[in-house]
Amino acid sequence: MKFFIDTADLDEVKEAQDMGVLDGVTTNPSLMKKAAEKAGRRLDFHEQIRQICEMVEGDVSAEVTAVDFDGIMAEAHALAPIHPRVVVKVPLILEGIKAIKALHSEGIRVNCTLCFSPTQALIAAKAGAAYISPFLGRVDDISFSGLKLLEEIITIYGNYGFETEVLAASIRHPIHVLEAAMMGAHVATMPLSVIKKLLKHPLTDIGLEYFLADWKKFRA
Ligand code: E4P
Repeated sequence: MKFFIDTADLDEVKEAQDMGVLDGVTTNPSLMKKAAEKAGRRLDFHEQIRQICEMVEGDVSAEVTAVDFDGIMAEAHALAPIHPRVVVKVPLILEGIKAIKALHSEGIRVNCTLCFSPTQALIAAKAGAAYISPFLGRVDDISFSGLKLLEEIITIYGNYGFETEVLAASIRHPIHVLEAAMMGAHVATMPLSVIKKLLKHPLTDIGLEYFLADWKKFRA
């Protein structure tokens, strides 16, 4: 399973990259806003994406904000040349699907975002999306199961051999990651806090404390 960090904050990207387990980054307009607020200044979107690309070795999703075909294509054509690692993020709407098809035929990779149903995911795969991003946490928020959605998408893609990678998004806690990994999702994109939680276990901390205390006594 590939681990992506869901952030536009360079410090967070660096911290995850330093752990040595990072495979990519996903950003979105809200995460760009959050990064700018933390920086306390306006950020140049393209420059921020370029810097992130230079910090990691995997794919970096950069989202369009246009909602019409021509606008999405124009933004995608401006984003893709920033760096070979850029994957253009396009929303799962009719105009977005048309753009995914056109971008795919041009060789521009797309992460199809804001996926909330398996039929949406099916259409995105048929259009040629490189990634599909089902939003687990946001589905859970309205009392449906994000993990069930993920399972349905993985089953459908498996039935037909689609090459679109399933990118579990809107991950809120380690159980989302565990279940996504059990199902064989290709990627999980997570906030830094969730990546850190994956390695925590109280018995590890307690065990280490005892070992170090005994080592001190042994060496005394
Ligand atoms: C994924 O690419 C999305 O940007 C992200 O996972 C959304 O997560 P949220 O629901 O926590 O905003």
